[in-house]
Amino acid sequence: MSARIIDGKSIAASMRARVGAEVARLPAPPGLAVVLVGEDPASAVYVRNKGTATREAGMRSIEHRLPADASQAALLALVARLNADDEVDGILVQLPLPRHVDAQAVIAAIDPAKDVDGFHVVNAGLLATGGDALVPCTPRGCMALLREAGTRLAGAEAVVIGRSNIVGKPVAQLLLAADCTVTLAHSRSRDLPAICRRADIVVAAVGRPEMVRGGWIRPGATVIDVGINRIGTADGRHRLVGDVAFDEAAEVAGAITPVPGGVGPMTIACLLENTLVAARRRRGWKE
Ligand code: GUN
Repeated sequence: MSARIIDGKSIAASMRARVGAEVARLPAPPGLAVVLVGEDPASAVYVRNKGTATREAGMRSIEHRLPADASQAALLALVARLNADDEVDGILVQLPLPRHVDAQAVIAAIDPAKDVDGFHVVNAGLLATGGDALVPCTPRGCMALLREAGTRLAGAEAVVIGRSNIVGKPVAQLLLAADCTVTLAHSRSRDLPAICRRADIVVAAVGRPEMVRGGWIRPGATVIDVGINRIGTADGRHRLVGDVAFDEAAEVAGAITPVPGGVGPMTIACLLENTLVAARRRRGWKE
């Protein structure tokens, strides 16, 4: 292996410690409300981890659990209550929501000033136009990893694979704002390997296990793997893999994030940062 491993776990731990130190200097602890609808086991784990990290950073964690058959009206009423609650600085509604709920309508109901996921169209629009957006957590984490890896951004060719509202589109906006030349590719792009081979920076967020092969990577490129895919192994167990074939890519890349331990831990750290930013802006606390 020639690539340097970008250690998201330790970078996220430093970020969380820094947020905790800043929270300790605030006049009051920020509050983060997390809403979980239903019993999806993966979502329940994420919500539990978010609650723990929030408390460890010295913030208040407010958890609301609704049954899987909760109506859209009930969810909208809860969001309205959290919008009006001055003690709540951030609101996160865990996705995916049950199929009978219109997720876009729920996201649209969140006060943009409390939208710590950065999913509201006001925040997406501010990000796209260079304003003071709350920026989605995973893309923010990708940029922090690139900065920590010392990757040169200005003028670099960046290829993002995946066009989701949660990762692909916002990370493309952030790379563009950092003066990269950005290609936003996706599973239907013609000749993805050739597009990828041009890249100084690859961000893989396509949700397909090990799709990006070693031969797609330009020697020395920085590879950020956002994928978290559970695949079965020959002995009947499971393991987590990214969207990048790690062993192959690590032979060619200059720096690469592992899965697990790369982008994953950054998402919660950036959620805490966003909550701190939202609290400061709402309450007029100086940085
Ligand atoms: N489900 C998976 N990732 C996320 C996230 O970043 N935010 C929310 N709200 N739900 C998610």
